[in-house]
Parts: sequence; C-alpha cells; structure tokens
Amino acid sequence: MTSFVECFGSPPTVTAQAHGRLNLIGEHTDYNGGFVLPTAIPQYTRVELRARPDARVRVFSENVGEHAPMAEYELGSEAPVSDWIDYVQGVTQSLSRVGFRLIGFEARVESTVPVGSGLSSSAALEVALVRAIKALFGLAVDDVLTAQLCQRAENEFVGARVGIMDPMACSLAAEGEALLLDTRDLAYRRIVLPTAVLAPVAIDSGIAHRNAGGDYNARRAECEAAAAMLSVKALRELNEADLPRLKATMPDTLFRRTRHVVTENARVLRAATALEAGDAVTAGHLLDASHASLRDDFEVSIPEIDALVAVAQAHPDVFGARLTGGGFGGSIVALAHVEKALGAARDIAAEYSRSGVGATATVLVPATAGDTS
Ligand code: GLA
Repeated sequence: MTSFVECFGSPPTVTAQAHGRLNLIGEHTDYNGGFVLPTAIPQYTRVELRARPDARVRVFSENVGEHAPMAEYELGSEAPVSDWIDYVQGVTQSLSRVGFRLIGFEARVESTVPVGSGLSSSAALEVALVRAIKALFGLAVDDVLTAQLCQRAENEFVGARVGIMDPMACSLAAEGEALLLDTRDLAYRRIVLPTAVLAPVAIDSGIAHRNAGGDYNARRAECEAAAAMLSVKALRELNEADLPRLKATMPDTLFRRTRHVVTENARVLRAATALEAGDAVTAGHLLDASHASLRDDFEVSIPEIDALVAVAQAHPDVFGARLTGGGFGGSIVALAHVEKALGAARDIAAEYSRSGVGATATVLVPATAGDTS
C-alpha cells in the first residue's frame, strides 16, 4: 500500500467512496427503458483527493500493481488512452461539459471491487470520484445527476455504450436492500431484502467480461432495430400480451431479443413483489427463468457461465441463480438461505472449478474480511 502522503507529500482534503453493485434481476433491460433490481455489495472503491493550484490532474491507483500506477493529464485536454485513467478523464470531461469549472487535483484510488467480474468496478470508481470532486469543490450534484454524469463518461469518453443501471446502483443502492429502478424516467423505490431468509451470493466464473466489447453493442443494436421495426421508442413499451402477435411478424432473432426484454421486465416486477413479501422461493424461480431467457433468447451466456449457474441451481441451499451483468463471462448471482450462503457459495465454486470447465471460480459475495469497509 502506498499512502496519499507517500504519493503526494501531504494528506488529502476529502475522501469519498462508492460500493460495487450486484444486479439481482433485470438484465439488458436498462438500455431498453426497462426495470432493473440491483443491490450494493460490500466491496467498494475509495478516492482521496486534494486540489492543485493549476489544471493538472495526477492520479495514483493502488490497484494496478507495477503497471503505471500514476497517471496524469491536463483538464480540458482529456484524451482516451485505453487504460483505467480514462474513467477519471471521462468524469472530469463530463463535469466540464455540464458547466462545472474544475481546477486540478491529486487523487489516490483504492478498490476492493474486482475488475472484469461484472460487479461495476468502473461505475464504483466514477461515482466515488464524482463524490470526492463534489465534496472538494462544493458542487451541486445530487445522486441521480452523479449517475448520469458517470454514464456520460462511459458513453462519450470511454466508448462503452452502457446503460444507467450501474452508476445508479453505485450511487443509490445500499446493502440489505435492492433498488427497483425504472430506467425510463429514473424513478426508483427501495425494496428491503428479506435478510432473515436469504442472502445474495456472487461468484466469479474466472472468465473476464468486457463491456466495451462488440457483443454488448451488438445486442443493443438488435434491440434498437427491433424497436424501430415495431415503431416503439423502446422495447419497454411492449408487454407479454404483445408477444404472440410479434412472433408471427418478426424475424426469429429479433423476436427472441424482444421476448427476453419483455419477459425480463415482467420478472423484475414480480421479483420485487416476491422479495417484499419474503417469498424467496418465487424470487429464486424468477432468477432461474431470467437465466434461461438470457441464455436462449438473448444469447449472452457462455458454456462456463451456464455450467456455474447449473451447479448453483442444483445446490440444496440455493433458491435460484443466473448470470449477472452484461454476460459473455463475469459472475453469477444466486439467492441462498441466509445461514448457509457462504458455505453454499464455496461448495458451488469448488464444484465448478473441479468440473473440468478449465476455469477457477471465486466467491465474491458474501465477502470475507478485507473486502469490506
Ligand atoms: C452492463 C451495463 C449495464 C447493463 C448490463 C446488462 O453491466 O453496464 O448498463 O446494460 O450490462 O444488464
């Protein structure tokens, strides 16, 4: 560990942090104007900050090891370099574009959110940074604007066409509750999780995913094509009663993409109701159905993730499981019996790693000491 003082000579003036997120259900719905249900995980990213008298930004990251931990640039001259500093550059450019005038700063970043696992390490960094900059300069930025600025950083600067779920979750979700978010108008409601009954589990498949990758953007393009074909602004506007009619008129691939979005939106609302009622069994079945839809209709799973989900679904202490995040690797989410969650997660990871898939799974949630704030 290298302290802020060791990096920059004197202590920081502000410290802020943001947690990673785990999406319980509602996958590939956020860029279709639909519903999502993420929760916060114990792992977090912390940013320490101190102003500089000039326009220079210097950032030290504790998490990149020997590989260029210090990066710098000039405010107003942000330019992508395809590295972690792009998330910082994207945030300062987004803040400037909406009219905030910044001066330079020194920052130190440390994070326990794993990168490439589908738990929003980038959004956690961006949200923590906006919070730190907001505190340092006294900016009038609320939690929703924070999320919007972070999405803009990803979309316009980093070049990842991600939706609003991850920054909204990192900005607004808390542990022990899920954020039922309507991505059409950003209205949200907090769903208290029945933590006397169940606990969320996240297990990394050992296969890294990339949002900036072409597969994610290809799915977005298919959804946009389907919406255009159906003359709706977003697939969110359709519901399950429309599906028989659409099946008869749409090309098969676009129909299946549409069916995933429509049924997933319905599942999110049903899962929120089930969780509020403490009905872990129904919530678990909805996760299982979500996975089948992501695998068969939306085609964002991979064999290793299917294998990990199958092992989880077969575990006696698990109510349901599915891939979480963008897919094509990353992590799975499961709902497990609260007292058995860590043991179940370890069993599942061990069985998957032994099963000949060629990858090693890691339990991320429940977190163990060292990952939590
Ligand atoms: C990624 C994106 C999110 C969302 C999910 C899929 O995590 O960052 O905006 O689209 O994929 O649900």
